Amino acid sequence: MAAIILDGKKEANKLLESIKKRAKALEEKPGLALVLAGNNPASEIYVNFKEKTCKEAGFYCERYNFPENVSQNELLKVVDELNQKREIHGILVQLPLPKQMDESLVVDSILPNKDVDGFTPVNLGNLVNDNNMMEPATARACIALIESTGIKIEGKNAVVVGRSNIVGKPVALLLLQRNATVTMCHSKTKNLLEHTKNADILVVAAGKPNLITKAMVKEGAVVIDVGINRLGKKIIGDVDFENVKDVAGFITPVPGGVGPMTIAMLLDNLLMAMKLGRR
Ligand SMILES: NC(=O)c1ccc[n+]([C@@H]2O[C@H](COP(=O)([O-])OP(=O)(O)OC[C@H]3O[C@@H](n4cnc5c(N)ncnc54)[C@H](OP(=O)(O)O)[C@@H]3O)[C@@H](O)[C@H]2O)c1
Repeated sequence: MAAIILDGKKEANKLLESIKKRAKALEEKPGLALVLAGNNPASEIYVNFKEKTCKEAGFYCERYNFPENVSQNELLKVVDELNQKREIHGILVQLPLPKQMDESLVVDSILPNKDVDGFTPVNLGNLVNDNNMMEPATARACIALIESTGIKIEGKNAVVVGRSNIVGKPVALLLLQRNATVTMCHSKTKNLLEHTKNADILVVAAGKPNLITKAMVKEGAVVIDVGINRLGKKIIGDVDFENVKDVAGFITPVPGGVGPMTIAMLLDNLLMAMKLGRR
């Protein structure tokens, strides 16, 4: 039987409606700052989407564009100013940064309670301690899409392909917190199929087009494809969607799956940042 397609846009719109309602009850308007350095075309598209969604929600948004040769000090200075700015509750520095930057130094300079991406060591460390403060938006998006299937995560075999600090590791931690039995795979994993074939829940964040084929997926599995790969003008995920959908129980499309949900989660994190800021 063909898989149920998990409509990320629909789920994202539901969440955005709830975010707008919750924001109306607040005394202040949520304020987000977007910082973009360099001219990576993909980054520009992501930041445009984030800005558009933020403005459509009626929130305050400031955007800072820097050229490729911006100095690290200039970027640190703007983050420092934004850390202190009252009307800004959340700061997002779009990654990757230009080569001359120490990326972690710039990310670490964001105040943890304004870190809507959840990438600072404080927020990632809190996740490890099961003391979640700001959870990375893409990881939250994956969990929300899995939960939208109605399938219980507890006790399931969950396999995460990819171990980056911004996607793979946080997804694995959130699944572990929900009592899944989690296996993490990466580029040095031997016989990937042996692991993925055993997954009731399979989250793929490798950035490798069509890495996951039909033969690698267990019948009825929930398949969440985080990958965004450009093939000419087309955007595809890490999962061979057309064939895997014949064996999976649920599957996210690319585009239209994890991407839109991630942006909605970012605005949800912005409301969380306002709460943390008031403490
Ligand atoms: N939809 C969204 O909102 C969203 C958000 C963020 C990222 N993304 C996309 O998600 C993908 C992953 O992003 P990322 O930032 O996590 O990427 P990343 O930092 O490049 O990490 C990729 C991970 O995949 C692993 N990997 C690479 N090739 C593999 C293979 N053949 N078999 C098994 N594992 C393999 C790598 O293993 P090693 O650690 O051994 O190198 C690494 O851990 C990208 O396509 C990115 O564009 C989407």
